[in-house]
Amino acid sequence: MSKQFDVVVIGGGPGGYVAAIRAAQLGFNVACIDEWKNAKGGPALGGTCTNIGCIPSKALLQSSEHYEHAGHAFADHGIKVEGLDIDVAKMLARKDNVVKQNNDGIVYLFKKNKVAFFHGRGSFVKTSEAGYEIKVAGATEESITGKHIIVATGSNARPLPGAPFDEENILSNDGALRVGAVPKKLALIGSGVIGLEMGSVWRRLGSEVTVLEALPTFLGAVDEQIAKEAKKAFDKQGLKINLGVNVGEVKSGKNGVSIAYTDSKGEAQKLDVDKLIVSIGRIPNTIGLNPEAVGLQLDERGAIVVDDECKTSLPNVWAIGDVVRGPMLAHKAEEEGVAVAERIAGQHGHVNFNTIPWVIYTSPEIAWVGQTEQQLKASGRAYKAGTFPFLANGRARALGDTTGMVKFLADAATDEILGVHMVGPMVSELISEAVVAMEFKASAEDIARICHAHPSLSEATKEAALAVDKRTLNF
Ligand code: FAD
Ligand code: NAI
Repeated sequence: MSKQFDVVVIGGGPGGYVAAIRAAQLGFNVACIDEWKNAKGGPALGGTCTNIGCIPSKALLQSSEHYEHAGHAFADHGIKVEGLDIDVAKMLARKDNVVKQNNDGIVYLFKKNKVAFFHGRGSFVKTSEAGYEIKVAGATEESITGKHIIVATGSNARPLPGAPFDEENILSNDGALRVGAVPKKLALIGSGVIGLEMGSVWRRLGSEVTVLEALPTFLGAVDEQIAKEAKKAFDKQGLKINLGVNVGEVKSGKNGVSIAYTDSKGEAQKLDVDKLIVSIGRIPNTIGLNPEAVGLQLDERGAIVVDDECKTSLPNVWAIGDVVRGPMLAHKAEEEGVAVAERIAGQHGHVNFNTIPWVIYTSPEIAWVGQTEQQLKASGRAYKAGTFPFLANGRARALGDTTGMVKFLADAATDEILGVHMVGPMVSELISEAVVAMEFKASAEDIARICHAHPSLSEATKEAALAVDKRTLNF
């Protein structure tokens, strides 16, 4: 006998678990199925984000930043550190504990909201009068039926053709978060978000890091001026970023990994390293979902086809997050989850794709929302730009971190904010103000006229908004 639910969510990552909670808040009888296993084989809710993505990477970024500060920045403050050392096992254990706190938090939230949790793999069986029958294959096998199904099965790391992940020498983001000792030499293929974040972690801890990137431009999706400023900082830190390379044969052996590649001048090169992290993007995950059983349509990339409202090719089947089109970001997945739950309830859930913020948690951090200067130029839209450097911000000077700037792009005629781009200290937090402003269709002058606390990094945001009208006060 199949257990009946109003809404069955397949996948308990940030998209799925948030969708389940919102659907339960709206009064539905909800089940969430997730197959992730912790080291003991038990459930570990939270998906890629919690287990091998956002959360553990930020824990290691924090630990490695403390280490780097103790080794370099503290001396400027007159703080002497002798015998500085790193206990990698302890750092990894702390990271695992942070992950566990997040896993446990979601279990608590499911209980609080009365979401029924099933640990195992969910796959489509058939349609029935009551909805869609889903098999859950876990420690035991169960059958559940949902009137509505929300698929939130996420994504997996894309392997380099001919060099599969062994998580020993050739690492995905999973293995990259579990390296037991600081590798002397580390290579990363792909200088995207994971490449820069994980490269930063291991460089700070002492690895000699080389990044091999196929494209000739650095961070092509980022505003050019901001990307250039960030690259300058990474070069200074000693992160060796090689652009325009063509990676050839990758051989993994007892002594590490050997990578043959052609550099941007067309010359053949060889790089021998202890470990290689491959971070060349992610692929939507429908492994084991059995979409064929019900005729659920996928595109040529393997993503589930959805419209703007996350409706799939089947009635009452929805899909959200990394398994569908759009940026692969946890907060994008969450917003889609909330919107779908509300649409199922007959409400008008909405996701504004123009105001989804991006953050790269390197040092300096990079954050942006809206359009870049190169996009505005390409579209022919008349705009005004204003920038303000952290060098002229009192709080940044006191922190001892004056790298970078805030940049505003506003419509030339109406002054409406079209994009805000930042590189510098704590810009992951500063970007929220820009997101709020854009959601409310604010002008640059609106931000310029708002009182910002002194001394604070947020004053750089106000000053950059003033710069749009060429009237900065402190630069
Ligand atoms: P996922 O988080 O992938 O969750 C899918 C879940 O579904 C998994 O638990 C999986 O086991 C389960 N599942 C799959 N198939 C089945 C099935 N058939 N039955 C049952 N369960 C199933 N994004 C940010 O916004 N900020 C960051 O700082 C950030 N850092 C990242 C760092 C790294 C190293 C990586 C790899 C990613 C990072 N991301 C970040 C991206 C973010 O992790 C993803 O965008 C987000 O996890 C997508 O959420 P999701 O719910 O769509 O899928
Ligand atoms: P990415 O798409 O950010 O970057 C991949 C890079 O690899 C690109 O620059 C691409 O040109 C390059 N590349 C592709 N094939 C290559 C090849 N054969 N040789 C050399 N270079 C090659 O992908 P990444 O870093 O794997 O991350 C995946 C996604 O995870 C991100 O796009 C993002 O959505 C998410 N993420 C988000 C984070 C955040 O929000 N802070 C942190 C980490 C990941």
